[in-house]
Amino acid sequence: MEELFDNDYIKMMQALLKDEYAAYLDSFKRGPVNALRVNTLKIEPSAFIKKLTLHLTPVPWTKDAFYYAGDKENLSKDPYFAAGLYYLQEASAMLPAEALNVQEGDIVLDMCAAPGGKSTKLLASLKNQGLLIANDISASRANALVKNLELFGAVNAYVISEDLTKHKKRFKHFFSKILIDAPCSGEGMFHKDPGVLKNYRQKSKAYYTDIQKALLDTAYELLMPGGEVVYSTCTFDPLENEGAILSLLQKHPDMHIIPIDINYEGFAPGIEYGGYDFHHALRLYPHHLKGEGHFCCKIKKDGKLIIPHKQNFNIPKINLPKPFNELELLNNGKLISINDDLYRLPDHYFDFNKLRTLRSGLKVGSFKNARFKPDTALALALNPQNFKAKISFKHDDIRINKYLKGETIDLCGLDYHEGYNLICLEDYPLGFAHIKNGIFKNSLGRGWIRP
Ligand SMILES: C[S@@+](CC[C@H](N)C(=O)[O-])C[C@H]1O[C@@H](n2cnc3c(N)ncnc32)[C@H](O)[C@@H]1O
Repeated sequence: MEELFDNDYIKMMQALLKDEYAAYLDSFKRGPVNALRVNTLKIEPSAFIKKLTLHLTPVPWTKDAFYYAGDKENLSKDPYFAAGLYYLQEASAMLPAEALNVQEGDIVLDMCAAPGGKSTKLLASLKNQGLLIANDISASRANALVKNLELFGAVNAYVISEDLTKHKKRFKHFFSKILIDAPCSGEGMFHKDPGVLKNYRQKSKAYYTDIQKALLDTAYELLMPGGEVVYSTCTFDPLENEGAILSLLQKHPDMHIIPIDINYEGFAPGIEYGGYDFHHALRLYPHHLKGEGHFCCKIKKDGKLIIPHKQNFNIPKINLPKPFNELELLNNGKLISINDDLYRLPDHYFDFNKLRTLRSGLKVGSFKNARFKPDTALALALNPQNFKAKISFKHDDIRINKYLKGETIDLCGLDYHEGYNLICLEDYPLGFAHIKNGIFKNSLGRGWIRP
């Protein structure tokens, strides 16, 4: 592996790790370790582990994730994945969202969110209360973010694609918690993808450090007094970690590093940098634990945290046809029409005017020729107990795969209703189908159909 590194990288890692450098190199022989995180909005981890026949062992720094021995591709094809029961995520990348310790009413910003590994965890910690703004500057990457949040059943979330450095004044002091999972030179990913090495050499250090410092400065402006930021990267380079944070602390004396309240013997402390002690930051190295590597640091702004109550805002009522007008989720929410699409806005007000917005809350459906068609995102966010017309299949029923491929299903022997039916895998919704005169019409949205 070392032959792939350039001299600067070798020198940096030797200076950082000293006599542990050989152990670091050895860790590459192990190959990647696979892990998944359970969607606690849909299922408890203790119930989930009974569902898969795989051997699962807990990831020590979080209660909702497991290492698995098995093929990643198979797990991404499992129908439980299509029902949003879990997310496949590298284990050390699970720490930052855990460290932010989001609580139900928080107003949370995930500044660099795509494809959504950490946003899905933030959403689950919020228990779909409060507000999540998931942002990524890359609109194409943000599409994957939308899909992953919808799979998880997101209701109180916006997905935007913005350069937030341009909105410092507009959203000043708006957020109680902010995650910056910063773009970086990414050596933490060398295990998973040696291709990162090529990219690593193409971009200068200054390219990343300039963005990282700008993101930290923006987070400072957007954070409420008393609020907290977690800054993370998957690089080991002190310049992009301790160095970036030092520049924030020097500019803003009301920002202080605070301990991350998670203990694991494999975590290493941050290093001393520029005369400043970063021992409360955490460095995750692949030779100390089962993970590719990460840096994570928590910073708090002085002041008393006061999270404002939900703002009451009025918009004209939109009427839905039966049975959708009987759903509490939609009756209690504010519905807005954007072009032909209908959204249920998050309960907490957020001014998304003129922002590049990919999702304004839950996409409920669309009106075509004055007919309402429910969206797959709505199905994934529903509690099936609240929807009478449903058809449930067992995990090994081949009709599940037919449904996920967008095909039609023979209704023989099935209990169904005329009109829209919620198609479920056991108790977990997958999407809708429309049934008229005994003919099944698959209503899975285009982006949800499997090849
Ligand atoms: C390390 S990845 C984020 C991974 C993500 N947090 C997850 O857990 O799935 C960094 C992301 O930052 C985005 N990015 C780069 N510069 C940005 C900026 N100035 N503002 C917002 N996002 C940015 C990139 O498009 C990329 O998706």
